[in-house]
Amino acid sequence: MTRFKVEEVDPFTDLEELLDCQLTAFASPDQSIYRLFCPVFGNDKHAHKDAVKRKAEMYLKHYESSTEHDFVWSKVTDTENGKIAGGLMWNIFKTNPWKQKVDHINPDWYSEEREREFILKAMDIFNGPRKKYMQKPHVYLDTGFVHPEYRKNGIITMFLTHATKKADELGLEVWLESSVPMGVPIYMRCGFIPLQQQSIQPQTSNPDDAWKAMEEKLYPLKFWPMWRPLNGDYMEGMAHSPWANCSEYREKSNL
Ligand SMILES: CC(C)(COP(=O)(O)OP(=O)(O)OC[C@H]1O[C@@H](n2cnc3c(N)ncnc32)[C@H](O)[C@@H]1OP(=O)(O)O)[C@@H](O)C(=O)NCCC(=O)NCCS
Repeated sequence: MTRFKVEEVDPFTDLEELLDCQLTAFASPDQSIYRLFCPVFGNDKHAHKDAVKRKAEMYLKHYESSTEHDFVWSKVTDTENGKIAGGLMWNIFKTNPWKQKVDHINPDWYSEEREREFILKAMDIFNGPRKKYMQKPHVYLDTGFVHPEYRKNGIITMFLTHATKKADELGLEVWLESSVPMGVPIYMRCGFIPLQQQSIQPQTSNPDDAWKAMEEKLYPLKFWPMWRPLNGDYMEGMAHSPWANCSEYREKSNL
């Protein structure tokens, strides 16, 4: 029997442990991009606990408003002690999700209007490539993470295998954004093709102190959009990637 197993999350019993695991994963090493999506302030125990609580409220709200089939949350459990070793939050969009009203996160944990404006513009840039290229049914791997104590056991690969198998059964392409360069080769081994590195630099005509403070707190913000064709079946030189005919994104991935 293998030590780790992939299961569906029960949001009402697993949420706190899972979010604790997610926050710990993104703090090790610290990834500022995570702060676009999560209310983390500070690195002490208190800030961590507070962020877990706020994030749990956000997710329960999101979970309850999602349609039955589009939102999936998987966990990997260590069968030796029952602990959650990692999680993958993903969406199965059987129709083009951009045709409906997209339910964006409201960053209301930032008290200043200029801070919220910065975050919303940053989120738009983050979502830009997927919005541009995935105007169709697809599987979206939103957030994947593995607790630092459980890394290098192939756990993220287990999640990807699980989700891409489902995507292939449904005949759907898959999209994700890697927030770390070390994720790119891992995802490539699962059939994903990287688009070039993207930077998030929200623009404003009035870069006041509040705006500059956000830049200072969060920069650099980088990510790597990645696309997986049906069955991971891609042939070099065949121009069928979503961005193949788009000069804006044609250059090779800058890793
Ligand atoms: C990025 C991340 C998800 C990787 O998770 P992971 O489960 O450690 O990844 P895997 O074990 O599948 O693969 C990582 C490496 O371990 C290797 N590995 C896999 N199984 C192994 C084993 N049994 N023994 C030793 N090494 C192993 C893999 O081959 C891979 O090697 P590489 O360094 O040569 O690429 C994890 O580091 C993480 O959670 N980071 C913080 C959050 C984050 O960045 N999430 C991704 C956002 S897109």
